[in-house]
Amino acid sequence: MSGFSPEWLHLREGADRAARNADIASAVSARFALRKDLSVVDLGCGTGANLRATAPLLPDKQSWILIDNDLHLLDAARNEIARWADHAEARDGKLMLKKCHAEIEVTFAALDLAVDLERAFISQPALVTASALFDLVSEPFIRKVAKLCAERNAAFYTVLTYNGVQRWTPHRPADNQIAGAFHRHQLSDKGFGPAAGPMAPSLLADQFRLHGYSVLEGESPWLLARTDRTLLEELQRGYAIAAAETNMIDAKTIETWIKVPRHGAEVGHTDIFAAPGSGAPMDF
Ligand SMILES: C[S@@+](CC[C@H](N)C(=O)[O-])C[C@H]1O[C@@H](n2cnc3c(N)ncnc32)[C@H](O)[C@@H]1O
Repeated sequence: MSGFSPEWLHLREGADRAARNADIASAVSARFALRKDLSVVDLGCGTGANLRATAPLLPDKQSWILIDNDLHLLDAARNEIARWADHAEARDGKLMLKKCHAEIEVTFAALDLAVDLERAFISQPALVTASALFDLVSEPFIRKVAKLCAERNAAFYTVLTYNGVQRWTPHRPADNQIAGAFHRHQLSDKGFGPAAGPMAPSLLADQFRLHGYSVLEGESPWLLARTDRTLLEELQRGYAIAAAETNMIDAKTIETWIKVPRHGAEVGHTDIFAAPGSGAPMDF
């Protein structure tokens, strides 16, 4: 188990889809508009939310490899993607899908990306994608992903990377203390070495630019309201747990903080699309 439950991923999927940056999505769609087919690798696929949201942007014939190190989530992904499709057939361990005009072949791969990232690139994907992954990984991992993409001339599209913005409504003075502790927790090791946390978007953009990619960045914040009550409560609980784990704040402050009812929150994310060949490569 990775610590990400299918229930949590399911709960955030709607907010994630609504938050995706439409301009960046359009740029992805435009980039591949003249292609008939596309091979895609999804890093840290969870239950397959990224495929469900990204497939409609891509050409009609797609082959995806969905990678995660959590077998339970890979199983959930297989089921949820089959349910999402108009038609799904299992063949040789893969799923063959029809969704609107698209024919999509999906392979599921159990792989620890922290240990063997190179294996994720063996299929020579034209597009490498991920959703809500990159704030968990380390700076060396980001450098490696950019290098592996560049060596294969692969495009890169990652969405919903946390960028450090968090605002609660109503605001309480302790919010700033909790945010400080949460950000310290963000930098702790999530299996890839010290995590990039909210620095991940700028590290990604810098690395791809160094490889001569043209990089587009756009905001994709969660703007949560009263109607997102369950997500707001889970978020508040998750932040409190993370803050407590840092030992930076006394238990009483956290206990009081978590009891304040919130009816809104902004959580900042960044989407990035990096396309090869159109920026000036640098000597390094
Ligand atoms: C925040 S979840 C995002 C899941 C999915 N992309 C989504 O948007 O719903 C992060 C995902 O990365 C996966 N993950 C974390 N560490 C990993 C590793 N070392 N190798 C492969 N997958 C990993 C987790 O299992 C989880 O599915």
